[in-house]
Amino acid sequence: MKKVTIVLAMAALTTTILVFSCKNPSADSGTVTLSQDSLVKKGAYLVSVMGCDDCHSNKVMGAQGPELDMANRFGGHLASAQLGPIDKSQLDKGWVLFSMAQTATFGPWGISYAANISSSEHGIGNWTLDQFKLALREGKYKGLKESRPLLPPMPWEGYKNLKDEDLEAIFTYLKSTPPVDNVVPAWVPIAEVK
Ligand code: HEC
Repeated sequence: MKKVTIVLAMAALTTTILVFSCKNPSADSGTVTLSQDSLVKKGAYLVSVMGCDDCHSNKVMGAQGPELDMANRFGGHLASAQLGPIDKSQLDKGWVLFSMAQTATFGPWGISYAANISSSEHGIGNWTLDQFKLALREGKYKGLKESRPLLPPMPWEGYKNLKDEDLEAIFTYLKSTPPVDNVVPAWVPIAEVK
C-alpha cells in the first residue's frame, strides 16, 4: 500500500513538473531569434502590408496613375519637389490637402512632410532600435524622448501595439534599403503657412 502511495505521489509530481515546464515564459512568449536574412524578409513583408510607402515614398506618374518612385523609395518628401501655394481657406471648409505623391500634407497642424526612413544618415541610418521603438510606439520625432510629438498623418497610434520582434524586423529591413540622401523639409506650423 505504501509503495502504491509513493508511486502515485511521484506520478503527480512528474505531471506537475511537466505542466510547469510547458508553461514556462520562454515557451509561452513564442519568441524565436531570427537570422538577419529572415528579419529582412519579415520586415519587407510587414512594410508592404502596412503601407509605409503610401506616405514615405515619392511617386511618379505611370500609365495606370501614380507609381512608386523606386529610386527614392523610403526617402520621404523630396526636398526638390515643387509644390504650389496653399489655399488656406480650404481648412475652414473642412478639408485637408495631400500632395500628389502623398508625402506632404496640409491640415490644422500646418504642413507636415513624410520623413526619410531609408538607411541614409538623413533617414534612420544612424538610429538605434530603441529610437525606432520610441518613434513608432510613442510617436516621438527622431525617436527621442524629449522631442516633439509626430504629426499627422503618421498613424503611429495604430502601430503602438507592434511586438518587439515585428519592430525589429521592420527596422532591420529599412536599414537594409538603399540610402536616399534627401533632407526632408521641416514642419511648417499653421501660423507660418503663407
Ligand atoms: C498616412 C501616412 C503615413 C504612413 C502610412 C506612415 N507614415 Fe511614418 N510618417 C508620416 C509623416 C507625415 C511623418 C513625419 C511626421 C512629423 O514630421 O512629425 C512620419 C514619420 C515617421 C517616422 C519618424 C521619423 C523621424 O525622423 O522622426 C518614422 C520612424 C516612420 N514615420 C515610420 C513609418 C513606418 C515604418 C510606417 C509603416 C509601418 C509608416 N511610417 C507609415 C506619414 C506616414
